[in-house]
Amino acid sequence: MEIITSPADMAAWSAATRKSGLTIGLVPTMGALHEGHLSLVNESQKRTGATVMSIFVNPTQFGQGEDYDAYPRVLEADAEKARAVGCAAVFAPPASAMYPVGYKTYVDVEELGGKLCGRARPGHFRGVATVVLKFFNIVRPDEAFFGQKDAQQAIVLKRMVLDLNVPVTLTVCPTVRSRDGLALSSRNAYLTPAERAAAPAICKGLTAAASLYLAGERNAAKLIAAVKAILAASPLIVPEYIEIVDTVSLQSLDVIDGPVLMAVACRTGVSRTRLIDNTVLGGSL
Ligand code: PAJ
Repeated sequence: MEIITSPADMAAWSAATRKSGLTIGLVPTMGALHEGHLSLVNESQKRTGATVMSIFVNPTQFGQGEDYDAYPRVLEADAEKARAVGCAAVFAPPASAMYPVGYKTYVDVEELGGKLCGRARPGHFRGVATVVLKFFNIVRPDEAFFGQKDAQQAIVLKRMVLDLNVPVTLTVCPTVRSRDGLALSSRNAYLTPAERAAAPAICKGLTAAASLYLAGERNAAKLIAAVKAILAASPLIVPEYIEIVDTVSLQSLDVIDGPVLMAVACRTGVSRTRLIDNTVLGGSL
């Protein structure tokens, strides 16, 4: 497995790989790899001839006061995991290579980037869309793989690919969870033991809402109330939003009559860690 740090070298590697007849799958990550990230590689391995994982803590998607400096950076351990799961290359550029002096261009997916998590994190999805389009242009993958865990991100990126005619197929893969239901996340490392013990309440709430939906409930407020009630029993897990939205427009819905995204964001009481999770009712992303 190659570890590549320059965009020019990455583009050359991709061109040579494509010339050899292999299709290329891209798995963009910020590192601190866990089984959720590796599940995306597994899917890429099934669908493409060579998998590239990018590992880059992208400064433009972090707001003021967010955890850009604290975000875990463990490139050696990550490269070992990427190699073990069969990546052909890891692309880990320095920030100065992605955003050199004089950098001025950003991708803004209007409206979608301002809903749900975009309200608490202005500019976040602009940073995500920008860096992912840059990765697409450098690596030129045939396919790219994202996790449902970050559903809004997947929806924003699908919109970008469609709107800008980007020649790549996006696949959204299921959320990987720990045994107690908590969605795996690099940020779970910030949780205090008590917060970690309480955090599965988010998944429990979503599961309760999904059961009500399966039993026929289509009133969004009732499903949201079910999640609220379960979170209320865990004072360390404070909801920031609980919403039911259209899976394409992210418009909030009162009555469910098609596939919808039920999305939750919480803030923990002590470490102030932001946790997100979601379920799709009546369809998939
Ligand atoms: P990161 O948080 O490292 O996540 C990288 C990819 O792994 C994303 O597609 C995310 O949805 C997926 N992922 C994370 N946790 C998962 C889980 N428990 N199950 C399944 N997939 C999971 O998302 C980002 O990085 C960045 O915003 C990025 C797209 C790399 C742009 O900088």
